Amino acid sequence: MVIWSHLSCNLKAMERKNIGIIGIGRIGEVHLCHLVQSAQVNVTYLVDIEPVHGKIRNLVKQYGLQNVKVINTEEVTHMLSDKLLDAVLICSPVFGKPHKKSELVKFALQAGKHVFCEKPVDLDPSVVEECYKLAEDHRKTLQCGFDKRFDISIRKMYDKIKAGDLGELRMIKLVARELPAWINADYLKSSGGIVVDSAIHELDLICWLSGERPESAVCFGHAKNPMFKECNDVECAMIMLKFPSGLVGYIENVRGVPYGYDQRFEVLGEKGMLCIENPSTTHLQLWNEDGRLLDTIEQNGLPRYYEAYRMEKQHFIDVINGQASCEVLPDEVIFNSKLTQYCTKSLRTGTIVNIP
Ligand SMILES: NC(=O)c1ccc[n+]([C@@H]2O[C@H](COP(=O)([O-])OP(=O)(O)OC[C@H]3O[C@@H](n4cnc5c(N)ncnc54)[C@H](O)[C@@H]3O)[C@@H](O)[C@H]2O)c1
Repeated sequence: MVIWSHLSCNLKAMERKNIGIIGIGRIGEVHLCHLVQSAQVNVTYLVDIEPVHGKIRNLVKQYGLQNVKVINTEEVTHMLSDKLLDAVLICSPVFGKPHKKSELVKFALQAGKHVFCEKPVDLDPSVVEECYKLAEDHRKTLQCGFDKRFDISIRKMYDKIKAGDLGELRMIKLVARELPAWINADYLKSSGGIVVDSAIHELDLICWLSGERPESAVCFGHAKNPMFKECNDVECAMIMLKFPSGLVGYIENVRGVPYGYDQRFEVLGEKGMLCIENPSTTHLQLWNEDGRLLDTIEQNGLPRYYEAYRMEKQHFIDVINGQASCEVLPDEVIFNSKLTQYCTKSLRTGTIVNIP
């Protein structure tokens, strides 16, 4: 009897989950690509504004998807009333129209769906808190999109720190620079600024890797590019954090370097140092009288973190199947949201901000 109930529970967990994706832009497409390759999932709805439907129908054809409905953003409540739908991935911008991202999160949770939401859930930490309260009330998962935690090298770095290989931590340095190519004024105006849009990942990583929360922060930034100035944003930002243990953190975000997607991470401890460099796109090297030339690094974050996005989606599927508990904890996401606001305040005022 016990064996049968265990078996039926496992079989239920193995049933394909029906998932809808809201917002099929840059990141929505990446998540779609991973979901269609999963044997544990049916993609049943794709939601976006009408002008994007042509592109979405091409994707549906390309992936040979059956029984998927391509619908308008206005029809989102109709989708959420579908009892067969288990979960949604929310990949629209924070100020998406007609509903901003956190409104969609709330609708979905109230309709009893599990939610994966791309960062940031909202710019206002109290709204992020409300979303997590709703998830708790409705006993549903709300996983925030911190994909870098699922990167194999970063995960190994985390495991080694937790195993005590570095001893007490002294300093963490996280560098994140990217090409300017895909960034335009529309994106910048709806992004919430460099800290909440870009440094949010490194702020999450620094707390997750160290297991600590900073007590003070300072952020300096500069906009040389007029587009960033007009959008009241900066293209270079530098954040320094002080943690209660004495650990110091340094985060650098630059939007507009000429050589690619540059992500380098360093953790210094009393027993040694862990670091992650940029992988080259191929193993090709040119050796000549000038020295040794490596191939280019990735040109944007989607290929660099392609596998991390897949692992992140697999984690979400495992969580909604009851086979894992969500590793991106509500308290961590709520604190991260507050931290992005403290750092943004420091950037705007040029002062050190104490974090209560
Ligand atoms: N975790 C990561 O690495 C990562 C990477 C890229 C983007 N993001 C986040 O994902 C979100 C989307 O970013 P993007 O680069 O894909 O943007 P994008 O502009 O490329 O795509 C957004 C899509 O959402 C659609 N949309 C807007 N409002 C909508 C609504 N109310 N309902 C349904 N669809 C709506 C747009 O038409 C567009 O197709 C942002 O919040 C961004 O910060 C996260």
